[in-house]
Amino acid sequence: MQTLHVDLGERSYPIHIGAGLLSQGHLVVEHLKSKQVCVVTNTTIAPLFLPTLRSQLTDFDLLEVILPDGEEFKTLDTLSTIFDALLERNFSRSCTLIALGGGVIGDMTGFAASVYQRGINFIQIPTTLLSQVDSSVGGKTGVNRPLGKNMVGAFYQPKAVIIDTQTLLTLPERELKAGLAEVIKYGLINNQDFHYWIKANLPKLLAKQSEALTYAIRTSCAEKAAIVAADEREGGIRAILNLGHTFGHAIETAMGYGVWLHGEAVAAGMVLAAELSLQLCRIEPKVLAEVRAVIEAAGLPVTLPEQLDSKTFIQLMRKDKKAEQGQMTFILLDSVGKAAVVRDVESASLERLLSGD
Ligand code: NAD
Ligand code: GLY
Repeated sequence: MQTLHVDLGERSYPIHIGAGLLSQGHLVVEHLKSKQVCVVTNTTIAPLFLPTLRSQLTDFDLLEVILPDGEEFKTLDTLSTIFDALLERNFSRSCTLIALGGGVIGDMTGFAASVYQRGINFIQIPTTLLSQVDSSVGGKTGVNRPLGKNMVGAFYQPKAVIIDTQTLLTLPERELKAGLAEVIKYGLINNQDFHYWIKANLPKLLAKQSEALTYAIRTSCAEKAAIVAADEREGGIRAILNLGHTFGHAIETAMGYGVWLHGEAVAAGMVLAAELSLQLCRIEPKVLAEVRAVIEAAGLPVTLPEQLDSKTFIQLMRKDKKAEQGQMTFILLDSVGKAAVVRDVESASLERLLSGD
């Protein structure tokens, strides 16, 4: 097992990474404050991993909340299911929520923990590549609204992140590729060596070779932990973690939640961000070609969905959380391994980009 730390003063926590960690119950138990423990998961994940986790918690008053599976269920209504289950069992402030699943379960469980009785313990056990390299770390929690992705939520850090790399064995190929989009993101924004390592090792990553996946997860978590420690609430540098996300969130919202996976939308969004960077003379054409090549090689989309009209798309981007008074913020590239937060992109540049001129 390898352990990294997210250094946030009294909110610091460990990220444990290793094969078979679901069977190491002590990693969970050491963070529990009482006998009351609630695992939140979904109908796909429960049959795969809940029995193992349950077997580690036999001494506890265990509540299991099994939600429907899908991005379209990342809603306030679904949150109510969690709250009602906790209240029916008289779970108190000292209880702990455990998120067992991908980013949808993690984001919702974290948000539920942030508001149930004004804040309770929670632990992340991410089971998708995307959630292991990104969403379980850093404390962003929340749900979607019809008008915008992740628009209602809170910053709320877990007590621990426990990454059992063996859970990836059952992950469908499309979901693995979606997770690779976020892995690729870390190389592009902040770590050129990692970028070229990913490029060289894509066949191993796509084949779920365990050593390669573990290295990719550890490096991604280390990148994220350092950025979050420097800027927990995204006052500045943390925004670079959103490379491709302004475009990506608009794709997800426009297409209907769950039609394009988050990682797929981010992948196409990163190519658009590179195209915009080229248009604004921040990078050379070869950098755009490099970004497109690695994303394509990972089997991810490099263009917008055909049916998306640019007017709706721009309107949705104006609602992005990073937009201030109608002015959109973009994360652009200055090279492979270096990103910048750019606030003064003119609408005309965006319209030119989307019209393909
Ligand atoms: P997801 O949670 O929908 O999981 C993808 C699918 O894989 C689901 O059907 C799930 O049931 C299934 N699954 C999960 N683990 C499995 C396993 N081991 N084997 C087989 N099937 C498994 O999607 P995701 O990609 O994990 O997360 C996407 C969500 O994360 C989005 O809502 C996105 O907004 C959010 N996100 C949040 C942050 C953050 O910082 N909080 C960062 C990135 C993404
Ligand atoms: N996924 C972006 C962030 O955590 O800040």
